[in-house]
Amino acid sequence: MTRENALTFPAGFLWGTATSPTQVEGHVQNEWTDFVAQDGGNCRIACDHYHRYSEDIDWMHKLGVNAYRFGLEWSRLQSAPFAPLNRNELARYVDVIDRLCAAHITPMVVLHHFSNPPWLNAIGGWTNAVAVAAFEDYVRKLTAMFKDKIFLWNTFNEPDTYACLAYLLGGFPPQRKWQVGQFRRVIENMAQAHERAGRIIRHAAGAGRKPQVGIAKNWSFFHAYKTFSLWDRALAFTCHCGFNKFVLDAFLGGRRYEASTFIGLNYYGRMRFHHLQAMVPAGGTPMNQLKDFGFVCDDMVERYPEGLEKILSYLQQKFHLPIYITEHGAASHDEEFREQDLRDYLAALHRSMAAGVNVRGFFYWSLLDNFEWQFGYTKKFGLIAVDFTDANLPRRPKPLAEVYADICRSNGVEL
Ligand code: FCB
Repeated sequence: MTRENALTFPAGFLWGTATSPTQVEGHVQNEWTDFVAQDGGNCRIACDHYHRYSEDIDWMHKLGVNAYRFGLEWSRLQSAPFAPLNRNELARYVDVIDRLCAAHITPMVVLHHFSNPPWLNAIGGWTNAVAVAAFEDYVRKLTAMFKDKIFLWNTFNEPDTYACLAYLLGGFPPQRKWQVGQFRRVIENMAQAHERAGRIIRHAAGAGRKPQVGIAKNWSFFHAYKTFSLWDRALAFTCHCGFNKFVLDAFLGGRRYEASTFIGLNYYGRMRFHHLQAMVPAGGTPMNQLKDFGFVCDDMVERYPEGLEKILSYLQQKFHLPIYITEHGAASHDEEFREQDLRDYLAALHRSMAAGVNVRGFFYWSLLDNFEWQFGYTKKFGLIAVDFTDANLPRRPKPLAEVYADICRSNGVEL
């Protein structure tokens, strides 16, 4: 294979993949357990990664990734506020981490990924300030346990998506709508919890290595389809202020800046508004209509690889922190489309890094086809397919897995 058009990444760059507990583990007892997705699916078994993690780590090894971003499920580990952590569940996560390390795969753990323990949901979840103290206690216990094993800590995954879908749009449990005050309270409480967790994690000195800590911020660009449409522009600007600006300020503004040593960026693309409608498949606009508009979309949002350069340069200039692309991926049955998408985004990433942005790793969403929240099993993000119609949930690598394996092996991408 010629490498003439190959873009090479710096030595030590992390090439990873990502999952979250509710989406892959199965057997969770949180607010998603009784949730029925739009396709009628639920997360009760999901990929059964809970039992099959060792096989899934073998898949990662075959892919040649050197990093894995995954969650520790709080509801498994702590059955009551301030209670000791569950020993068996801890032992299972220790085994996951030990197997990853044995396969030379660096773990990045996520502490909150759209789910809470039932006892926290019973008192209003993150709208209740008690969540902050409870999370602090949980993190203190976790760091005591894992400080010699985990050096990449991702406290909150996409607080903006979580608070928006749970309290504004009603897509996630508890399915509230237009509770702006609760949306803001959730963000404020999570930001405070992140600040405290950051302090705890950074001060837990383990094995002479400094732990790194950050959130994963979902960044969507919000634009008006027709730039002269005042209403669409106003809506786009409101979304930008509420989901991007307000959230970044809450987590990284003022003294909270000190809590983070990196920024995690989840970047998929953009959302354009036309007559106040979000023109994306995830918002219900049919694919053929989007094509007529000239939009290139996966099964979720519009592709916008050049936006990656814009957001990376903005984050670097504003915060001067190292960045990990904690998620990017495409959902589609069309593997050629996904392959092109990956190359386009990695080319944009490479241009940003050549221009001086300090990006340390890229995590493909996702290792496996999985339970995509309110959409259930219809969105195929996996490098590895899972056959959910077969009770044995067989795994099978997709064509993109080979492409990604080549990227990981060569630490570069061919265009
Ligand atoms: C992100 C979530 C992740 C998955 C991908 C497609 O917003 O963090 O769990 O749903 O989108």
